[in-house]
Amino acid sequence: MAQPNVAALGGSSLIQHELVVIGGGPAGYAAALYGAASGLDVALVEEHLLGGTCLHVGCIPAKELLETAAVLRTVRHAADFGVGDVGGGDLEPAVDLAASQTRKQKVIDGLARGVTGLLAGRDVTVYKGTGRLGAAHVVSIDHGAGDPTLVVSEHVVLATGSSPRTIPGFEVDGTLVMTSDEVLSLDEVPERVAVIGGGAIGCEFASMLADYGSTVTLLEAAPEILPGCDADAARAVRRAFRKREIDVHSGVAVADHQPGDAGTTVRFGPAGGNDAEGTDLDVDLVVVAVGRRPRGDSAGLVGTRVAVDDRGFIEVDDRLRTGEPGVYAVGDVVDTPQLAHVGFAEGMFVVRDLLGESPAPLDPGTVPWCIYSHPEVAFAGLTEAAAMEAGHDVVVSSHRFAGNGRAMILGEVDGLVKVVAEKDPDGRAGRILGVHMVGPWVTEQLGQGYLAVNWEATVDDVAAHIQPHPTLSELFGETVLSLTGRSLHG
Ligand code: NAI
Repeated sequence: MAQPNVAALGGSSLIQHELVVIGGGPAGYAAALYGAASGLDVALVEEHLLGGTCLHVGCIPAKELLETAAVLRTVRHAADFGVGDVGGGDLEPAVDLAASQTRKQKVIDGLARGVTGLLAGRDVTVYKGTGRLGAAHVVSIDHGAGDPTLVVSEHVVLATGSSPRTIPGFEVDGTLVMTSDEVLSLDEVPERVAVIGGGAIGCEFASMLADYGSTVTLLEAAPEILPGCDADAARAVRRAFRKREIDVHSGVAVADHQPGDAGTTVRFGPAGGNDAEGTDLDVDLVVVAVGRRPRGDSAGLVGTRVAVDDRGFIEVDDRLRTGEPGVYAVGDVVDTPQLAHVGFAEGMFVVRDLLGESPAPLDPGTVPWCIYSHPEVAFAGLTEAAAMEAGHDVVVSSHRFAGNGRAMILGEVDGLVKVVAEKDPDGRAGRILGVHMVGPWVTEQLGQGYLAVNWEATVDDVAAHIQPHPTLSELFGETVLSLTGRSLHG
């Protein structure tokens, strides 16, 4: 590994690396780790915590707290399995969010130690501070006190991430109005909650809080929750939510909220309607989950040719190159799906690109999506509507978990698997264009569907393979099999 070079620049020393990454979230640390694994002398600049949103206020804490919800559900249904307390009565679970928070933090700390150790193990130089890219690839690192550190590199990767979006009329105060940043630190269960936004974050929180015992109202501006998901998948989640008494209102506009003696009153009405049609909803907590704003402007960029669009995204081409030669951008700060695993893939991609390995550009349309609500949602590839819109003649097949043995054993029979395939000229189902799943552990079952879509497999290719029995994944096999024209159980 090359040793950093130190040169002089107007009195300050200028430390030279072969790759400088600004931002230590999944996209940034992936670029750093993969760059170091490729033999580069890498520096990583992070102003807050290594691991970024995903590890500290995103994927990991959210899924950890959702696991508390899953344990609660299991215990609540224990009597169905003949499991009660020693006195013979039903188990009556109570949620202790403070204890759950302690467990969450333990998981986060363990993973944070892991990232730190991996970076150290690969001799990545980690600078704590705010990195600002200026002219001539010089990155100035502001440590909050003392002189900034100046580093320079032929290649710079911008990975400054995103932060929760807010909406007018709902100032985040951390008590009555929260974004995901604050909800993930809740240590008491609110009685009544309005969740604004029915995307991935909104649905996960609505599901989690309903399991904890909150009365939840979900307010979504679009005509259906989970925009971007296949319509049948979104409908299945909505149906399951209704059964769980989550009150879902879609096609609504949320006006504002009026704090009162106890909690606050949220006013909403039909999108495009007038105030007179509004409904008042009394709640103890408003969760705003209306998307994440890219932090394109947070890495200086003065004197560079890096462009930031009016939504805050750094503009890149399909090789994630910015307008400044040698400078890349990856992760939530570019306009590709804001998912940690997409960040990992982008971080690794740019390393291969700067090394001249000419990797094939990533296709944002076929990445895996996993939403950890109850029921879970997972998909890859085109929805039925998007496939038709793209001009494909399609054949689809859906099968429900209700008939799957393992799902019945688990007592988790809500949900379906839907496969969208291209219709060949002979009318038979050909290439698999999209796989959509709702139900138990589908986030762990998507792998086969993701590979099928991205390997451009046909229905016949996949149907030739055996699914183990009894498994939840048999439903994917059964759905594909039925598209061959002959099915077994379906
Ligand atoms: P999102 O963009 O997925 O969903 C936001 C939702 O809010 C949309 O359905 C939108 O129509 C709705 N909305 C926007 N303004 C509104 C308003 N004023 N009133 C009512 N509804 C409104 O964003 P989300 O859920 O906040 O997630 C942010 C990003 O993080 C997304 O890219 C998401 O995919 C990603 N993410 C993914 C997760 C996963 O895959 N499990 C989990 C968490 C986040």
